[in-house]
Amino acid sequence: MQVISIISTKGGVGKTTLSANLAGYLSSINKKILMIDADPQPSLSSYFKLIKPADFGLTEVLFNPSSINHCISQTHYGDLIYSNDPDNQLQSWLVGQGDGRFRLSSALNHLKTQYDYVFIDTQGARGHLQDASVLAADLLISPILPESPTVKELERGTLSMLSELQSDKDMGIKVPNLLGIVYKLDRTKDAQKFVTYLKRTSTHNNKYQMLKTQIPQSVVFKEAASQQVPVTKFMGLNKEQQRKAQKSADAIKDLAKELRL
Ligand SMILES: Nc1ncnc2c1ncn2[C@@H]1O[C@H](COP(=O)(O)OP(=O)(O)OP(=O)(O)O)[C@@H](O)[C@H]1O
Ligand SMILES: [Mg+2]
Repeated sequence: MQVISIISTKGGVGKTTLSANLAGYLSSINKKILMIDADPQPSLSSYFKLIKPADFGLTEVLFNPSSINHCISQTHYGDLIYSNDPDNQLQSWLVGQGDGRFRLSSALNHLKTQYDYVFIDTQGARGHLQDASVLAADLLISPILPESPTVKELERGTLSMLSELQSDKDMGIKVPNLLGIVYKLDRTKDAQKFVTYLKRTSTHNNKYQMLKTQIPQSVVFKEAASQQVPVTKFMGLNKEQQRKAQKSADAIKDLAKELRL
């Protein structure tokens, strides 16, 4: 089982869309998938249609990690632990628990169903729930929009969050590698400039690596989401829409291949 957390301290960069599409695609090719929605704004929780909702969600998982098997719902594209913390109280509750940041990773050790991949979608902010998602992961993926604010936020926000976590050495903490992926790429020169910059700085500073796969900017991601399917299952209404859908679907498949999932 491999645990992959999708993180970025910046909001609205594509974390949920990327989590759902990668998880949904892998589920559609018969991989055993668990999605965990660790965002109090529960977008991933309703991304795919629920087949069998559980009575409990992430709140109960964190309150009592050994109860995780009672907190798993089923969707059309894999299993799900939904977010049920609308007032965003889990963050501060976790701070008060000595082992708060380790509760998600210890919960995953109790899983009875064997999963190939667990995807954790996080909130675009910093806090104990983000730390817990990082510490539960084998791999971290961060979508990066090729534009100035997001690239700055990568350095100021996401990377500094990880290095602060890593500096808690006496806690026996090991922070996994961060893989950046160029996200919502368009054809502008400006975007190309940032792609080059990201490649260059990632090889220089060794703090993160950039994936070769790039995810295009495409309305298909929104259209697929409104049909509650991953882009790889989206059917365009006409040739043009089908062509666009194919390009986005190929990018998701390429990503799975590059990550060797
Ligand atoms: N490749 C894409 N091309 C165009 N639009 C996209 C793409 N991926 C996602 N979007 C759109 O961008 C918006 C933000 O995406 P998403 O909700 O996945 O980001 P997020 O990082 O999870 O945001 P939040 O921080 O609010 O949780 C959504 O409206 C989504 O439909
Ligand atoms: Mg989101």
